[in-house]
Amino acid sequence: MDQLKVTVRTGNYLAVTFITFIVSSVMNLTKEAWGSRLGLILAMAGNSVGLGNFLRFPVQAINNGGGTFIIPYLVCFLLMGIPLLWIEWSMGRFGGRHGHHSTPFILNSMSPRPLWKYIGVFGIFTNIAVAAYYCYIESWTLSYALHSIKGTFSSLSQSSVAAYFDSYTNLSTSFFGIPSEAVFFFIVCVGINTYILSKGLAGIEKVAKIGMPLLVIFGVFLAYKGLTVGTSAVSEQFPLASAWDGLNYLWTPQYDSLLRPGIWLAAAGQIFFTLSVGMGTIHCYAAYIDSKDDIALNASTAGFTNEFVEIVLGSLIVIPIAAGYFGIDWIKENMSFGMAFQTMPFLFNQWGEILASLAGVLWFGLLFFAGITSSLAMGTPWMGFMSDEFGWNKIKGAISFGALVLALGLPCVLFYKYGYFEQYDYWAGTVSLVIFALAETILFAWIFGLDKGWREITTGADIKIPVIFKYIIKYVTPILLIGVFIGALITPVKNNWIDAFKSLSNDGIWPLDGQSLLLQISNTEMYTALHNAVDPLVIESIRNEIFYTNIARLVLLILFVGITTLVYIAHKRRTQEK
Ligand code: PHE
Repeated sequence: MDQLKVTVRTGNYLAVTFITFIVSSVMNLTKEAWGSRLGLILAMAGNSVGLGNFLRFPVQAINNGGGTFIIPYLVCFLLMGIPLLWIEWSMGRFGGRHGHHSTPFILNSMSPRPLWKYIGVFGIFTNIAVAAYYCYIESWTLSYALHSIKGTFSSLSQSSVAAYFDSYTNLSTSFFGIPSEAVFFFIVCVGINTYILSKGLAGIEKVAKIGMPLLVIFGVFLAYKGLTVGTSAVSEQFPLASAWDGLNYLWTPQYDSLLRPGIWLAAAGQIFFTLSVGMGTIHCYAAYIDSKDDIALNASTAGFTNEFVEIVLGSLIVIPIAAGYFGIDWIKENMSFGMAFQTMPFLFNQWGEILASLAGVLWFGLLFFAGITSSLAMGTPWMGFMSDEFGWNKIKGAISFGALVLALGLPCVLFYKYGYFEQYDYWAGTVSLVIFALAETILFAWIFGLDKGWREITTGADIKIPVIFKYIIKYVTPILLIGVFIGALITPVKNNWIDAFKSLSNDGIWPLDGQSLLLQISNTEMYTALHNAVDPLVIESIRNEIFYTNIARLVLLILFVGITTLVYIAHKRRTQEK
């Protein structure tokens, strides 16, 4: 009898051990979590700090008048950026507590209305579409870093460096005998992202822990050069150039900008893009935070780290270095995001061969780290969704994400010159962000309810958030977002609102700009150009542009509908399980 009891007990013990083993290994498969607080903050900062900080910010700042841009930018950071960070972090942690790691069902857990889970589709869609063109830029940085080591640019003139970029994007350069270098590096870049993503959050954390400090070190070195370059590199062509003019232009605030909505729009757009808000990535990262852990301080730290990198490092490299050589007027005329590739390698050459190579590696290496810590983030909402709803493991999730990015990104590589790429940037990387941010703010503050929302933000908080933010979140942020949306919808000619209102009151006509959302949809600007064109070559090229623009939109639409269908299927499965 005793022996029987022992056998039964041993049997029970074995069974319990076995079940515990199975459960814990399944949990390990599905239950991802951040390794440490530092890892989380670095990963979140890495998510925000991206190409936008170094390529987009200087362009926006210069093209919107330097000092005129800075005040609306900082105001947008405080009244829209920071509140949205808190909203998204707390929505993410809330969703994670209920087992959701992507926006469709995070939003659904906050309001039972069916509409919200479909609005949540934006939080997966945007990431995949942005990743498709973002990884392409990221692949340029990889290739350019290697070319800097190889010394490709060392003896090239300014126009040859610029021409090199054109032939690169026209797919006519080859790398060690491999034709179409751009396609090659794009595939390599997507491969690297896929591999790291297949390691899950641990892989992302590791890359952030290595990449972020390196990025700051590289940035500080280049910024030091930017600050000390003075007038030493001045060319004969621009004898009056000075690096300081670049900085003064940016940092002399102009208060008249407060009355120019066009600049506000640009500032708000930059805040969205740089902080990665309105995307769904922050929700996803935050969904893996323990429900009792702080988010108020973490979110603020990640946000301010991004701003440090953007405002300090982002403005101390391209602008002063280029101003020191060419002068501020040249920059005002020529500033575009291509300058980082078309001009910087030439400027580095002025520092002597060795320093030029080093600076090239540091600059493109910095851009690569900035890019990859962001593109990895873009993979996580899709992976989280497929794991939650369809039980896909990390490897399957990562490979499918890589395949999607490849399929959607290759046309960006192949049809770059027809403006295919810009369509993704406009619809997914700009318009979608504003729509989603507005929707989630309304959900959070008005439907979920700000009292509950405020409790979410402050639970476990390691800092005391000023109560005024409660009112900012409820009234100011949504009103600003509505303003930004309407502003984009009906942007008047040349972004000149004062003249537009005059024309409206005098003649009853609102003069829409070709850049306004309304005219973008109908391709009005391109059709007008086509109408006025006489040269058959020009006509041909505009026709191509219209064609690829429409294809790009169709592809995006198919992606959106595809994800919506998956959400619908997931929803059906959930209701059947109940
Ligand atoms: N914030 C990133 C940048 O500044 C871009 C990004 C968008 C990253 C969306 C993640 C998600 O470049």
